[in-house]
Amino acid sequence: MQLTPIQQEMLAGEHGLATRKAMEILTALGTIYGAEYMAPVTSVQIAGVSYDNLGEAGLHFLLEMAAGGGRARVLATLNPAGMDVDNGQAMGITLEFARQQQRVLDAFAAMGVITTCTCTPYLTGNKPHFGENIAWAESSAVCYANSVLGARTNREGGPSALAAALTGFTPAYGLHLDENRRPTVAVRVEARLDDTSAFGALGKVIGQKLETGDSGRLPYISGIPRASLENLKAFCASIATYGGAAMFHMPGVTPESTLAALPDRGFTVTQSDLQETYTAMSDALPDEVDFVSLGCPHLSITEIARIAVLLEGKKVKKTFWITTARPTKHIADRMGYSKIIEDAGAVFATDTCCVVAPIRGRFHALATDSAKACYYASAKNRFKTLVLPFDRVVEEALR
Ligand code: F3S
Repeated sequence: MQLTPIQQEMLAGEHGLATRKAMEILTALGTIYGAEYMAPVTSVQIAGVSYDNLGEAGLHFLLEMAAGGGRARVLATLNPAGMDVDNGQAMGITLEFARQQQRVLDAFAAMGVITTCTCTPYLTGNKPHFGENIAWAESSAVCYANSVLGARTNREGGPSALAAALTGFTPAYGLHLDENRRPTVAVRVEARLDDTSAFGALGKVIGQKLETGDSGRLPYISGIPRASLENLKAFCASIATYGGAAMFHMPGVTPESTLAALPDRGFTVTQSDLQETYTAMSDALPDEVDFVSLGCPHLSITEIARIAVLLEGKKVKKTFWITTARPTKHIADRMGYSKIIEDAGAVFATDTCCVVAPIRGRFHALATDSAKACYYASAKNRFKTLVLPFDRVVEEALR
């Protein structure tokens, strides 16, 4: 791989120990994937933030990088942490976990990483432009950045994303290159898509077909004339979870679809495919639900406003988590939405989510609109799940 003089200096340790380690990680990655050069990045999003996932070894790595003088050279934000940083107690987080989680955040802050913990950085000020090379780690956000924003990123691991932040570079391979952004499989959607839960089910149907097929993982999806930001974030989370897709084209919706030629091979998704998948995601009966959560991916302010309308003057009867980014919560505070929601007995789990928080075994069955939350609730936390349209999830909390 060709390195520029500054990249060579970083590798030689002339910019400190942490920068050298970071450049070692990136050159190793670039060599494995056959990158010819390093691309400068404008934005980074780092996963591996929850102490529940990181553990002691992960925390040690971060402390070492911070002590080695690591300092972010570009805008870098974090994926959700294991707790609401200001409200861990209301979530039932132990003091010991809170202490360790805070050490993780302090290590990132010492490196100049902005400690906004969210999987929707594009809603809170970390929103790259079309064509920019970036290094993001959270799978739903990676898919959103490549597809909806037209920025360019592979799905980075926690260490490689941090390395990109500390050097300002990422190896140019995969989705940084034009030839790898062309669609490989045509998908025709002939189904009604009413809300986020339907887009989540669609992501699962397409994702599973990509996973088992041999036509690659970059679909050109026609038949969807429009999709809201909320629909797209739900779809990105689902297709990335069930199919490992990091990008798709959707004519009329995503910016690079106009540049893409339609692939020869493909499949159609029908209403019955969608219905079957929707049903398959629910193995809990409504009476079994003891935990309700909205915000996977993190809620937009529009979604929080809707929850406030649905909860005004009422009281929830189940544990109900509203998960979102701290800056979005601040807007909700200012608009009075937070007060309405909290007066109804729901809890803001800001900076975190029902997947990365340490809640395994605490609940029996989760109601959600999110196909991704459904996958991890079952795989990681061993909860049963009930997937419902957005408004009906709120009704479930009131029931
Ligand atoms: Fe975000 Fe947590 Fe879902 S990180 S995409 S809310 S699993």
